[in-house]
Amino acid sequence: MDTTQILAGLLAQASTQQVTELLDGAAVSPVREFLVNIIYAIAAIFFVFGLKMLSSPRTARRGNLVASVGMFIAVVVTLASAPGIGYPVVISGFVVGGLIGLVAAKKVPMTGMPEMVALFNGSGGLASAVVAMAEYWRVNAYSDLLIDARISISLTLLIGWVTFTGSFIAFLKLRGQWIPVFWSGKESAKDREGGVKKDTAGNPIMQWKRYIKMGNPLTFPLQHPLNLLIVLAMIVLCAVVAANPAAVWAVVLIILISAVLGVLITAPIGGADMPVVVSLLNSYSGLAACAAGFVLHNTGLIISGSLVGASGLILTNIMCKAMNRSLLNVMAGGFGQDTSAAGGTSVEGKTVRQMDAEEAAMVLEACQKVFIIPGYGMAVAQAQHAVAEMADLLSQRGIEVKYGVHPVAGRMPGHMNVLLAEANVPYEQLADLELNSEMEQCDVALVIGANDVVNPDARRPDSQIAGMPIFDVDKARTVMVCKRSLNPGFAGIQNPLFFLDNTTMLFGDAKKMVSAIVNELKQS
Ligand code: TAP
Repeated sequence: MDTTQILAGLLAQASTQQVTELLDGAAVSPVREFLVNIIYAIAAIFFVFGLKMLSSPRTARRGNLVASVGMFIAVVVTLASAPGIGYPVVISGFVVGGLIGLVAAKKVPMTGMPEMVALFNGSGGLASAVVAMAEYWRVNAYSDLLIDARISISLTLLIGWVTFTGSFIAFLKLRGQWIPVFWSGKESAKDREGGVKKDTAGNPIMQWKRYIKMGNPLTFPLQHPLNLLIVLAMIVLCAVVAANPAAVWAVVLIILISAVLGVLITAPIGGADMPVVVSLLNSYSGLAACAAGFVLHNTGLIISGSLVGASGLILTNIMCKAMNRSLLNVMAGGFGQDTSAAGGTSVEGKTVRQMDAEEAAMVLEACQKVFIIPGYGMAVAQAQHAVAEMADLLSQRGIEVKYGVHPVAGRMPGHMNVLLAEANVPYEQLADLELNSEMEQCDVALVIGANDVVNPDARRPDSQIAGMPIFDVDKARTVMVCKRSLNPGFAGIQNPLFFLDNTTMLFGDAKKMVSAIVNELKQS
């Protein structure tokens, strides 16, 4: 629904004009209003069908198109029904926004999508908040803001600003950005990486305190009671504005405190929980647009905002289930710190088995059933085409090949589905966690750039990822794991899978390693 969100901003802009006319006494005929609402209803039908199609990889592209057509209809009808609209401004907005969207769509790599979605969510929230601010200061001059408008404006400001600052923090976290906290000295960016500067003998000589890594949860004592206090203060402020719309100080406080609240809510959430947060913020941006729709009395905006809000909440719920966590637990944060970075290809006291591409090809050729479990590393290496080619070569030898696609593999919902579709992998070969029921009959579970989603520690009650559904690849006869080192994945925890007797590591970049296996298979 990202296209929808951008267009919703334009819709809001156009509707402001419509409300101006209404307040200025310009007559809007009941017939025209009826027709406009009918067309909004038609647009809503497009949204609903688009959303339905987005639920399957097979129909997702068409779903996006159908929803975009719905939003196009809604924008056109809003522009056409707004008397005296300033078209030069609207067209400039279209051109500037369209160009930004076009460049972003072309330039941003697939692995950068979550950051882009976070930015889009933030922009949606900001657009709604700005519309509410403009309406408040413009209509307040008439001193006749009705009670519903006062409540809608307060809520739009609250949700819009929380979404904007929260999404910005989510963006920094997804980028793993380093933020300066204290400033002293001139150390280079490279020195920050480890957090600790060591002498030539490896002894720590300086600990960095000047930077915080945004990927990690940022917590401080009494953080949650403080958040609760702020939420209560916001309820009081909204009530003040509802009772007395002339209380400009309360509106300014709502804006400032909401902006701080967005940061405070997102900061403690770290690492592996980011997808859930981005999806929740997506839902907030929809709710902000919906509230802005009430401010502007625009049915199209109310419908599209509620659909984005509801679908974001449903997706959030699906992801919480995929990690076996409650939303409250996710929001409480503190999960996903870099706790056990191993690095290299060996860990103290533990050894792993290794294989090269030639041996891997020989083992694979002798199989009857091979499951491929792709993860974030496949996306980074852009190995999907090589993986699909390898699977084709195995299938041609009569070997049954299936892909195990985990709901949170990669860095965004549907990440693996998008990559595998790009490589023309047949939908029949895709399976989700149901693949576990066949795992014991699988000859080789080939894990390509995945880590957390195959971590058997999730079955241990005291693990950080306890209860997260995983692919039980350790139950396959043989496990092959292709990654560059023993480094942990997004959750930052070590993976005992690598050290099991039936596991063999294929160390290297996923694309290079799989391409090498493809060459071997072609030669044999
Ligand atoms: P991860 O657990 O993040 O593991 C990815 C692994 O890929 C890393 O351990 C890394 O190991 C390896 N890798 C990186 N570059 C590589 C390359 N060029 N070639 C080969 N391997 C490479 O990934 P996952 O198993 O897909 O799990 C996803 C995690 O991200 C979950 O914790 C999930 O909650 C979280 N997350 C998901 C989403 C969504 S919505 N999907 C969004 C944000 C976060 P080396 O460095 O040793 O190569």
